[in-house]
Amino acid sequence: MLEPVRDGNWIFGYGSLVWRPAFRYVERRPGQIRGYARRFWQASTDHRGTPEAPGRVLTLVEAEGELCGGMGYRVDDAVMADVLTDLDHREKNGYQRVSTSLYFDRESRETAVALVYIAGPTNPHYTGPEPVEDIAAIAARARGPSGENREYVLELARALERYGYRDEHVEAVARVITNRG
Ligand code: SIN
Repeated sequence: MLEPVRDGNWIFGYGSLVWRPAFRYVERRPGQIRGYARRFWQASTDHRGTPEAPGRVLTLVEAEGELCGGMGYRVDDAVMADVLTDLDHREKNGYQRVSTSLYFDRESRETAVALVYIAGPTNPHYTGPEPVEDIAAIAARARGPSGENREYVLELARALERYGYRDEHVEAVARVITNRG
């Protein structure tokens, strides 16, 4: 059976956009995208770190069979251009908009086409794979204009737990940070 597709302008958040969207939306619904895994493999020199001491923030890497849970936001036509201008600025450090299918939760079977910001492997701030302990050690001490890097990690971990999404990578980094105190 075909899944019914919701129309409208949808934006999918998987990192800070899950818990701090800071843009105008008319509806938000948890959902998942397919074929991507969330990784703290992006250096942050402008939000959660500085050029001298970059923090670590999330990007998505292609991963067949993986599901990535987050938040879908529907944005009114009248403000969509302004919202994208603001988000392009917020995500300017290597992220690009990608269009993907968003699968709303669980019982509804509805889908939508959503924009998601991904920092791909050729952007200059992409770190590639790093050990979880190293990521956590960096995130535990980095801070930037948007605040402490540890807040970025721990707020997302809490939000994912609240919405019932498991993410072993996020949980592992959050656990090491928390255990370090
Ligand atoms: C997102 O949240 O969807 C993009 C990455 C970030 O800003 O943390």
